[in-house]
Amino acid sequence: QQMSDLLPLLPVLDQFRSDSRLIAALRAEVANVSLELGWPCREELGPSTHEELQQRLLLLQARLHACLQRLGCGKLTGVSNPITVRASGSRFGSWMSDTVTPSADSRVWYMDGYLRGRRVLEFRTLDDFVAGQNFIQHLLPHPWAGTGHVVFNGSLFYNKYQSNVAVKYHFGSRSALVQRSLPGAGYNNTFPYSWGGFSDIDFMADESGLWAVYTTQQNAGNIVLSRLDPHSLEVLRSWDTGYPKRSAGESFLICGTLYVTNSHLAGAKVYFAYDTGSSSSEHTDIPFHNQYSHISMLDYNPRQRVLYTWNNGHQVVYNVTLFHVVNTSGDI
Ligand SMILES: *[C@@H]1O[C@H](CO)[C@@H](O)[C@H](O)[C@H]1NC(C)=O
Ligand SMILES: *[C@@H]1O[C@H](CO)[C@@H](O)[C@H](O)[C@H]1NC(C)=O
Ligand SMILES: *[C@@H]1O[C@H](CO)[C@@H](O)[C@H](O)[C@H]1NC(C)=O
Ligand SMILES: *[C@@H]1O[C@H](CO)[C@@H](O)[C@H](O)[C@H]1NC(C)=O
Ligand SMILES: *[C@@H]1O[C@H](CO)[C@@H](O)[C@H](O)[C@H]1NC(C)=O
Repeated sequence: QQMSDLLPLLPVLDQFRSDSRLIAALRAEVANVSLELGWPCREELGPSTHEELQQRLLLLQARLHACLQRLGCGKLTGVSNPITVRASGSRFGSWMSDTVTPSADSRVWYMDGYLRGRRVLEFRTLDDFVAGQNFIQHLLPHPWAGTGHVVFNGSLFYNKYQSNVAVKYHFGSRSALVQRSLPGAGYNNTFPYSWGGFSDIDFMADESGLWAVYTTQQNAGNIVLSRLDPHSLEVLRSWDTGYPKRSAGESFLICGTLYVTNSHLAGAKVYFAYDTGSSSSEHTDIPFHNQYSHISMLDYNPRQRVLYTWNNGHQVVYNVTLFHVVNTSGDI
């Protein structure tokens, strides 16, 4: 059963054949394990052989999934034309779907405004969101600041008003599970993005987990990117990107690389990229159409591989083009 679950992955691996001695090795291993599984039935195997095979299978499974995740990953090279999903709410706000849960869950969350809001609308599906129907309301125990919220694995992560406290609000139990201060993080419109709006602290998710973007006095106002533990909200590791936060329009994370736009206004580009893998940055020049000329939220959803934005009272999505690099000298 486990083996047959893996077999559909082979064509995907094939697509990347040109890249890979390692993929060839994985293929051989899959074939070997398949063969050994097909040969005797379970009773004919000694218990140790069976256990050993099981062990190899689990290992193989983990390596294949890690490999696939990496194959799907890549460097941002383009942003599609925008599609306006809905025109609703004030000039500034935030909307999103879950960045982790399986695709069967297509709920959409909507948080209008950037200051002292507490009302989160939860729509059953994207179609319901478009039609403005079938929603329930969550009233947060603490008001929010900014628009940098993210929904990650059934919980909302947001910045508590007039503090640098991160709040984890669980939709299922309708309660705040954790609150924790981000050490040294500026708040209260001290270090917002270029558009202001108390956007000091921006939570986001990529393929590998939960992150926060902010800055501190010690970092002289340059963007700090921190990986967070989604259970405790503790900072696991931080990177100083060197990019001044007040000069950034917005930022979003794809496959461990932070992309920063140079403005929230017309003519904005993805201007800067910081790779946490190599702790290095580069200038980029990736244009995108800022149709309504005032972006107050921009986030990547790694599950759907789209960018969500709130642009002057419009809820807009973009596709992204990623250039896939498979590093054949690393181990999978
Ligand atoms: C597959 O089996 C062959 C023959 O037993 C062996 O030579 C080879 O090393 C195995 N390959 C892998 C990747 O396990
Ligand atoms: C999501 O939550 C479930 C339980 O609610 C947990 O088992 C799983 O590990 C979580 N996933 C992530 C990526 O945190
Ligand atoms: C936040 O800034 C406002 C002015 O914009 C000020 O009145 C208030 O005291 C500040 N609050 C905190 C907690 O720093
Ligand atoms: C993104 O690509 C998918 C598949 O090609 C397409 O259905 C969808 O409309 C695109 N969305 C945008 C915003 O371009
Ligand atoms: C590939 O991986 C190796 C070993 O992990 C590393 O030294 C090398 O810099 C990587 N190359 C690229 C292009 O990422």
